[in-house]
Amino acid sequence: MYSSDKTHVLVLTGAGISAESGIPTFRDSNGLWENHPIEEVASPQAFAKDPQKVWRFYSQRREAAFKATPNKAHYALVELEKRLGHRFLLVSQNVDDLHKRAGAKNLINLHGNLFRSRCTRCSNSYPDMAPRTMVPLCKGCGAQVRPDIVWFGETIEEGCMNRIFEFLRQSRGGKLRFIAIGTSGVVQPAASLARLIGFMGGKNYLINAEVSANGDDFHFFQKGLAGEVLPKFIEGMEL
Ligand code: OAD
Repeated sequence: MYSSDKTHVLVLTGAGISAESGIPTFRDSNGLWENHPIEEVASPQAFAKDPQKVWRFYSQRREAAFKATPNKAHYALVELEKRLGHRFLLVSQNVDDLHKRAGAKNLINLHGNLFRSRCTRCSNSYPDMAPRTMVPLCKGCGAQVRPDIVWFGETIEEGCMNRIFEFLRQSRGGKLRFIAIGTSGVVQPAASLARLIGFMGGKNYLINAEVSANGDDFHFFQKGLAGEVLPKFIEGMEL
């Protein structure tokens, strides 16, 4: 079995890393969930009840993400990836494409992709940049098309979790570090990664504007804004 004596770094990002790019977070005061209740816009039930409302919400988010540009924190992670190559994996809960636009390669979008849509009935999937006022219909089967987002009550794609577990398996025998950035630590399964990696003997770092709900699972906490803290943190990392 593959094992390594080198350092592997798993990074988890949340909405906080895109906040300095002007994209609102979910749970901060005036965050998205304060103004748009989850049950009205981010569940299969919400889509069944009022698909146009759901599309309006995701269209606004598409526009905001489209206009935004990556910030220093996104670029700092790309520098780290360049140093580590395949010993680096970035797992993002964000559905914007700012990591990708910054140049991230080993990237998993755990909660889906704002710029992709998929059929509610068949397996058709569409790259989709346009804000929508009407509910689009599938070109294959005619059913309604929905944003390709993992909503509340839905499960993460199995392939994503398998890639994470495979990465952790490959890290065995070497040093494992986990860095969580800009996430409140309340949504599963992402919120459990720190505990899992702690059990595996890894070292966990949290960089966030405040202590996250799962703060006890981290060995080090650096309070601050991702764009200010992360570039220096990464520059000083011994790998
Ligand atoms: P949250 O909005 O829950 O948490 C964002 C965290 O980032 C908070 O702890 C903030 O204090 C912190 N923060 C804000 N600005 C920051 C900055 N500039 N630098 C560093 N930290 C900052 O967002 P997530 O944890 O990403 O899922 O939320 C997880 C998931 O819940 C999302 O992916 C979304 C949501 O429901 C879906 O929509 C499926």
